[in-house]
Amino acid sequence: MKDDHTAEKGKNIFLSKALEDRLNDVLVYNSIIETPLSKINSIMIKDIDDIGLQYLLNYQTQREGDLLNALSYSTTLFPYINEMEPYRESKNGISLEYDDYKSELSELLNKRRSIRDFSGDEVSFKVISNILLNAGNIHKIGDFFFRNIASGGGFYPIDIYFYANNVENLEQNIYKFNPMNKNLEIINSDSAKSINSIFSSQSSIQFEKAAGIIFFVFDYIKPFQKYGDFSLSFGFIEVGMISQTIHLLSTLYGVGVCDIGGFDKPSCESLLKVDGLNKHVIHAMVLGSI
Ligand SMILES: Cc1cc2nc3c(=O)[nH]c(=O)nc-3n(C[C@H](O)[C@H](O)[C@H](O)COP(=O)(O)O)c2cc1C
Repeated sequence: MKDDHTAEKGKNIFLSKALEDRLNDVLVYNSIIETPLSKINSIMIKDIDDIGLQYLLNYQTQREGDLLNALSYSTTLFPYINEMEPYRESKNGISLEYDDYKSELSELLNKRRSIRDFSGDEVSFKVISNILLNAGNIHKIGDFFFRNIASGGGFYPIDIYFYANNVENLEQNIYKFNPMNKNLEIINSDSAKSINSIFSSQSSIQFEKAAGIIFFVFDYIKPFQKYGDFSLSFGFIEVGMISQTIHLLSTLYGVGVCDIGGFDKPSCESLLKVDGLNKHVIHAMVLGSI
């Protein structure tokens, strides 16, 4: 196994053997789907010593539509993926004693859904402030600062940026959320035109009616000093934790929210004025009135 891995490295094969086999399986499974391997090969940035940075530099550069047509997922690939469907799993386990389905948190969790259709009404600045601050607050107890979210090593490498599209008493700008000073700093005041092109692959989301978009910027260097390349996974895990908190707060305040996995990363980074080398935009969420 180890020898295989070393040999692959030597040949500069950047996809793991397992992934390569799986992609080829897909090709065998249905011959009308062209394997994306050659496509990925032609556009990957390779030869970077640090595997985490190499991933971030290549993240989002393989446009969804270029890999497999979205229709292939729902029609031809669906049975293939469905081999893992939960109803096929064993029913022989020990039943859980589930009796908390009425607490506020339990109800919020069960009510949470991804919302893509918005009414177009503005969202109040107070609601946006409450979402941002409850998702990423810093408070002082004695001489120490504590945050609402956990972070590997306490490095807090995720910064939240916010594009205000339709928020009461807030101009249409890109802002950076500062949890220490509990404010929004203007980063770009010429952003409205560029937003649509960044999310052009997201036809099911009503951006023009949204109140705003939250961007998650990962400062890779912060955890890297201690954790090396596995700080990459910390960044994604921490975004997931904040994103779920934002889902719950939005449900609580009656605001619709949806994660956005696919976007034009380089354009997004130039809009937010982050370098795309040390700092990377790795996720986004859209929110609006429902
Ligand atoms: C990491 C992540 C990325 C996602 N990316 C998108 C996206 O790009 N576009 C979109 O419409 N929904 C996106 N979603 C929302 C999922 O489609 C949605 O969560 C899933 O269909 C389950 O529906 P539910 O959230 O309403 O339960 C994403 C969700 C997650 C967690």
